[in-house]
Amino acid sequence: MVLLEATAIGKRFGGVIAVDDVSASVHEHSIHAVIGPNGAGKTTFFNTLSGFYFPDGGTVHFDGREITRMPNWQRVAAGMGRTFQTPSIFPELTVHENLQLGIWSQAGQAFRLRGGTRAQTQAVEARIDELLGFVNLASSRSRLVAELSHGSQRLCEIAMSLSTSPKIVLLDEPMAGLAEAETERIVGVIRDLRERLGLTVLFVEHNMRVVLSLADRITVMDRGRLLAEGTPNEISANEAVRDAYLGREVVDHV
Ligand SMILES: Nc1ncnc2c1ncn2[C@@H]1O[C@H](COP(=O)(O)OP(=O)(O)O)[C@@H](O)[C@H]1O
Ligand SMILES: [Mg+2]
Repeated sequence: MVLLEATAIGKRFGGVIAVDDVSASVHEHSIHAVIGPNGAGKTTFFNTLSGFYFPDGGTVHFDGREITRMPNWQRVAAGMGRTFQTPSIFPELTVHENLQLGIWSQAGQAFRLRGGTRAQTQAVEARIDELLGFVNLASSRSRLVAELSHGSQRLCEIAMSLSTSPKIVLLDEPMAGLAEAETERIVGVIRDLRERLGLTVLFVEHNMRVVLSLADRITVMDRGRLLAEGTPNEISANEAVRDAYLGREVVDHV
């Protein structure tokens, strides 16, 4: 079943056509990657799916209904969780406080760090334990986010995106700028999102080796346009992708 379907999406900024007639079908329980060189339009396309921008043309369907112009917060309620390319957590708060904010804001009680009934507080704490356990950050619970490694900050963001109990998690370059070992931690958690939580993952990434090893399906963009869509094997064998983007040595390395 297709969970998220983008059809003929277009988006321009003044004279720049950032996304031009791009379609993608994200299947339920799949890990789907969007790749392409810098400036290809990946983030803009992604933002039209999350509702951060509305497209100028085309439609977006999610979980059986059209959401093309649904506001971002309604999409979160409908089951979309996302993290931004720029960190969207509060560095001066602890990991635990960030998650409290995420969970309380979902419950419609934004920025309420203390309070609620005892039962509510216990439920929130249990949920925080569950989320931190899932991303292996339980031991960093009381640390300020600013003091964590970049990889742990990303994991904290992923935990935040899970706090709204999404069906799909949208991640824009979750591994950007991370060292090898930290990249592996994120890769493991993305696999677990599908395997242990049964979620669907759509992520933007430019590390080809990561994409080819992690994704079930890959959408390749180049200069705002859809260049190819297929399985890792199809994409690494695709001549247009090889010519335009991948580079022979990267593909042969896999
Ligand atoms: N908010 C914006 N205003 C104007 N131009 C933008 C904006 N966002 C992106 N662009 C332009 O759209 C194109 C695609 O950008 P982007 O979607 O960020 O690509 P990618 O994520 O693949 O690197 C680029 O030419 C970029 O300069
Ligand atoms: Mg980008």
